[in-house]
Amino acid sequence: MTPTIRPRRLRTTPAMRRLVAETRLHPHQLVWPLFVGRDAAPISSMPGVMRHDVHSVAEVARQAVHAGLGGVMLFGVPDDADKDEMGTHGWLPEGMGQRAVNAVRDAVGDDLVVMVDTCLDEFTTHGHCGVLDDGGRVDNDATLELYARMAVAQARAGAHVVSPSGMMDGQVAVIREALDADGHHDVAILAYAAKYASAFYGPFREAVASTLQGDRRTYQQDPGNRREGLRETRLDLAEGADMVMVKPASHYLDVLADVAAISEVPVAAYQVSGEYSMVEAAAERGWINRRMAVEESVGSIVRAGADIVLTYWAKELAGWLK
Ligand code: PBG
Repeated sequence: MTPTIRPRRLRTTPAMRRLVAETRLHPHQLVWPLFVGRDAAPISSMPGVMRHDVHSVAEVARQAVHAGLGGVMLFGVPDDADKDEMGTHGWLPEGMGQRAVNAVRDAVGDDLVVMVDTCLDEFTTHGHCGVLDDGGRVDNDATLELYARMAVAQARAGAHVVSPSGMMDGQVAVIREALDADGHHDVAILAYAAKYASAFYGPFREAVASTLQGDRRTYQQDPGNRREGLRETRLDLAEGADMVMVKPASHYLDVLADVAAISEVPVAAYQVSGEYSMVEAAAERGWINRRMAVEESVGSIVRAGADIVLTYWAKELAGWLK
């Protein structure tokens, strides 16, 4: 038997494979998450990732421009003494997130899209994404008001994009209204539309020195719920999201493909801390080829439908793509 139809013909040389590649990565579609606190320090659960101070973050933001990255996603990490029940430093002008945005905008101007996490978990003593009611449950509607304040503070500090990640119902609508009322019509909202209560955020919790008590299962989605990812996305689109995100990425490629199929706005995916650290740990032991695993994992996220990928490898990967 000699087959006449041979898919292998298109795999014969690197040039042929390049020509017929269905998925192409570009630095412009990569967003680099950066942590910013009072002092710079390595994050032991994420080898190769630093927590920055306002000076070093300005420097790495310039490196991000040089690498051709699309943007950065900033996370403010307050001192423990600046945490309280409500997460007040989330919206004070001198809060760590606002200072980080300021420093980065000063360094890069409009050469990079400056995004910032709009969520209170880094700033609350209990580590939850909102304020608690008398029963210790996160109070959705009381939290919305605080997100509105936080988004306005971030816009005033110079954020191009605010990014509500707390999974409160109605958060996109409330933030849009507050931004517009304060004159920030051009500040965009990247909505964490489908965000799951995932074990893969583990290393991040160290990065932001989270003091989380309990879990987030009353507000983040159940990992088994695929259809619900679409419901959450449609709600955020109706509320005015300018971009939508699926998170985590690698274990939720089905959700990502669903969202990409219905979204008329750009779709982002967040390759989270646990996805990063698993590859780093296996590569360090020599169990996988690090560069191939990084390219394959980010490439698969794009193949599934992501226009934009948030990844801790953004700068290094951009260097390889050049
Ligand atoms: C919440 C938030 C989290 C991450 C980004 N934003 C943590 C959580 O929901 O518990 C995780 C990011 C990562 O793991 O890389 N502000």
